[in-house]
Amino acid sequence: MEQIVRDGRRAAAIVRRICTLVRRAETERRPVDINDAILELRLLVEGDLRRNAVNLGFDLDPHLPRVEGDRVQIQQVVLNLLKNAMEAMRGESGTERRIRVVTRTLEGAVEILVADTGTGIPAPASGDIFSAFYTTRPQGMGLGLTVSRSIATAHGGSLRAEPAPGGGTVFRLALPALPGRAAPA
Ligand SMILES: Nc1ncnc2c1ncn2[C@@H]1O[C@H](COP(=O)(O)OP(=O)(O)OP(=O)(O)O)[C@@H](O)[C@H]1O
Ligand SMILES: [Mg+2]
Repeated sequence: MEQIVRDGRRAAAIVRRICTLVRRAETERRPVDINDAILELRLLVEGDLRRNAVNLGFDLDPHLPRVEGDRVQIQQVVLNLLKNAMEAMRGESGTERRIRVVTRTLEGAVEILVADTGTGIPAPASGDIFSAFYTTRPQGMGLGLTVSRSIATAHGGSLRAEPAPGGGTVFRLALPALPGRAAPA
């Protein structure tokens, strides 16, 4: 029992370090074109989408303002969300497997929504999906959302999840918008 507790503490310390690292590693503080960053991920998930028979659709605001931050870290977050979405739909038969990525502006923030038609978030009673090591997957580490939220927070933004209207889940990443000209479409 003592060893289990010790290992648990050690693991928690590792996660804290990763999160600090993510925050510190934010050397890049540049204007980021979110639409462009998202579209670039298509190549990375193409194979997974095909294998899982998932349809990925985009609804990107062409007048989206830029955000300031680390392009690669933001891509990491969206990639995590896309992978989670695909995993949530893996077992689902019957329903259409669809991921919809939406960008829009809301009250000075750029919002990136990733909606799926998967299993939906596990009941709150079973734990917080954003906490470290929370996973319902045999191969899962339970770190994807922890690190993702940490990146969002380091950018002055937020990451939340809610049930999607037609079933499934919507993740909402909000990042402060840079003032000034809108990014070119
Ligand atoms: N789109 C989603 N639909 C339903 N449940 C989800 C979704 N995304 C995350 N979850 C739930 O939240 C848990 C935690 O997600 P998280 O990405 O942090 O870890 P993981 O995917 O299990 O493992 P990994 O560390 O490899 O990403 C998942 O195991 C799953 O139960
Ligand atoms: Mg994950």
